[in-house]
Amino acid sequence: MAASPVTTERDSWATRMGFILAAVGSAVGLGNMWRFPYVVSEGGGAALVVLYLAIVALVGIPLMTAEFVVGRLSQQSPLVAIPRLGRSRAWAPLGWLFILCGFGILSYYSVIAGWTLRYAFDAIRNAIPSDTAAYFTAASTGVDAVLLHLLFMAMTIWIVVQGVRKGLERSVLVMMPVLFLLLIGLAIWSGTLQGGSEGYAYYLQPDFSALSRPGILAEAAGQAFFSLSLGMGALMTYASYLRSKENLSREATVVALSDFGVAFTAGLVVFPVIAAFALRDQVSDSTVGALFIALPKAFEGLGRTGDIVDTAFFVLLFVAALSSAISLLEVVVTACIDRWGWSRGRAALLTGGLITVLGVPSALDLNFLDAMDKLTGNFLLLVGGLFTAILVGWRIFPEADAELAQGLRSPALRRVWGILLRFVAPVILVAVLFSAAEPTWRAIRTLLGIG
Ligand code: PHE
Repeated sequence: MAASPVTTERDSWATRMGFILAAVGSAVGLGNMWRFPYVVSEGGGAALVVLYLAIVALVGIPLMTAEFVVGRLSQQSPLVAIPRLGRSRAWAPLGWLFILCGFGILSYYSVIAGWTLRYAFDAIRNAIPSDTAAYFTAASTGVDAVLLHLLFMAMTIWIVVQGVRKGLERSVLVMMPVLFLLLIGLAIWSGTLQGGSEGYAYYLQPDFSALSRPGILAEAAGQAFFSLSLGMGALMTYASYLRSKENLSREATVVALSDFGVAFTAGLVVFPVIAAFALRDQVSDSTVGALFIALPKAFEGLGRTGDIVDTAFFVLLFVAALSSAISLLEVVVTACIDRWGWSRGRAALLTGGLITVLGVPSALDLNFLDAMDKLTGNFLLLVGGLFTAILVGWRIFPEADAELAQGLRSPALRRVWGILLRFVAPVILVAVLFSAAEPTWRAIRTLLGIG
């Protein structure tokens, strides 16, 4: 039998809006700004957007609904809830996989977030030098990167220590409107740039032949999982603080579409700038190049406007990263609270501290960071998603369906959900996992230092 949970008075969201904004805050993050535009431009522009939306609709929304259902049904951390609902210890490894992803992803995510902090500080002080490539090299690895990673982790821990209402909910109520306003402002500004229209064309012209490239499905699916925060219990944890019986599939749709909207708009900001300032060749083989090297270069030539725009841009990135990071840490913290009865403060400090230490290699070596991202931010999320679909779709489907029915009355829509979750999502995920095996193996070798 599963270990019996420790029962304490559990936190909950004060409002429905608080829950939605927190879930959107988790989903909208560096993935939207940093990976999405790049994946799209490499994958045939609008053709990849179509493929991406298909994955979001067929796999993402049904799986997010499933995570919400398990969270609200169990009112517990996934680590406790999964073996209990699955009625067997055999399901326990899935809960542990979620914890592992929380540790792994946050450890390098916080390093990148630290770069955004450094850029934001320097942008405010008007101190980003014109050689942005050298500046990036100095900022991205080494002592400074370690210190800023530490600072970012401290902020994340500080919010999580305050708890669900006072920490998470209150912070997203401030952060998310700021994020939306900055993003819309930047997109409008980008639209006014001379010569920017070529960027839109490059971003949006569909090239369907690019979709036949091997690995493109895995790339799009990995991006969808990372961007939607799926496959590691983050949204499951957030839904475990829900008491009221909203329609969970509607909430999932709202969160997924908001996430897509932000990612898409981020592309509308980035590509016109790159075209208008002829920075195409600076955007080398990674989006890191686009965000951290090419954009500050473009802003540099704009005088006062440029100072305002680059400050806005890096503050935006930082806010997006922080609201995602708290959800990553929350998965681990809630597990310690629900499973071992730790206090929130102790859980956040100890696990957050451990994650900070784990992040140091990523702050010292970009290859290590990249390999961590491939392994935990891509492959393991897909594995977690597959087993979540099997658990909810096959092992506990009647209970899950009854829980969903509390808010979603339409039997026809629930049937569609059942078919997507039980058949369509697992088939797509198995196919994707096969094609992701090779790059994952390479990432493991890099992490072990044998690659
Ligand atoms: N969705 C976040 C982003 O796009 C990252 C994340 C992944 C957050 C998994 C939580 C869980 O940046």
